[in-house]
Amino acid sequence: MHSSYSLSPSYSLYSILVPPTKGHLTSQTSAGGCASKLSPKILDQVLARIPRWANENVLVGYDTADDAGVYWLTPELALVQTVDFFTPMVDDAYTFGAIAAANALSDVYAMGGKPISALSILAFPAKGDLDELAEILKGGAEKIHEAGCVLLGGHSVKDDEMKFGYAVTGTIHPDRVKTNAGARPGDALLFTKRIGTGVISTALKRGIARESDVQAAVDSMLKLNRETCEVMLGFDVHGCTDVTGFGLIGHAREVALASKVTLEIDPRKIQFLPGAVEYAEQGAIPGGLINNREFASSCVEGSWELEVLLYDPQTSGGLLIALPERDAALLETKLPDAYRIGQVTERQNKPIRLL
Ligand code: CO
Ligand code: CO
Ligand code: CO
Repeated sequence: MHSSYSLSPSYSLYSILVPPTKGHLTSQTSAGGCASKLSPKILDQVLARIPRWANENVLVGYDTADDAGVYWLTPELALVQTVDFFTPMVDDAYTFGAIAAANALSDVYAMGGKPISALSILAFPAKGDLDELAEILKGGAEKIHEAGCVLLGGHSVKDDEMKFGYAVTGTIHPDRVKTNAGARPGDALLFTKRIGTGVISTALKRGIARESDVQAAVDSMLKLNRETCEVMLGFDVHGCTDVTGFGLIGHAREVALASKVTLEIDPRKIQFLPGAVEYAEQGAIPGGLINNREFASSCVEGSWELEVLLYDPQTSGGLLIALPERDAALLETKLPDAYRIGQVTERQNKPIRLL
């Protein structure tokens, strides 16, 4: 499951948003989280060795690589549960905390759930700056509050490498869970954010990113998928996931495999954050992007000159939504951020086809 075990792909994108300088958050982590990255392949092998106990209350478990787990309570009510934490990708402590919260909440929204409570997870150096810590916790707490979610507590340990995030619990109607497995032939594919946070982080690290471009990336990462989720629930959505560490193609691949369909994506329709295409052309390619491409490119038919960007690992990315054509057209008018990127067909040669 992507949520409970999501340290793997997510880590790839926690490249450092600002060059490390003494006393900055990112200078206190080894290789900005990339060092701790577990590859999806290794994770699959390890998970295969964990025994499985069937339980009829488990509506979505860890064997389907979905965004969050879902546990049935009553005919009207199920729990959605997820956890996400990582090393700093920005140097501003408050912003780091807020992005960590937005990112953790996103997996609940991707299932169509409503976050209700959160627990923080913190690893912090014994001699760390306590003002900085307070800012991280404050940034996180305010973002959790913005989501209408309650912070119940948390757990902290001493660790030379700082890490922060949340376990989030949400509620959902058991019949309205939006999984990776629901996409159907004939559905349209919508996406709701711009791509490029990984490339822009890398460009900044190399000192070639414009400040306005960095700010646009940070704003995008800070934006909750809450409204997107609430609006989408008014439509006949068949399948949904959030695009995070595996990049657009990596997460589209999971939807295609779980739904046993092919996703046809028109790359020319994809919107990128300002500067992303330019920085990619200048070679600002994050390590996680390379790993994503190695892992998923064999599942892709067709090519595109800027294809590399479709593997860019996203932090707190948008929702990829599969729904009938008529609903898609209407949803696009209700959600200004949503735009059409392709459609779902019967399974073809490969799970993904670039048009
Ligand atoms: Co996640
Ligand atoms: Co997810
Ligand atoms: Co989902």
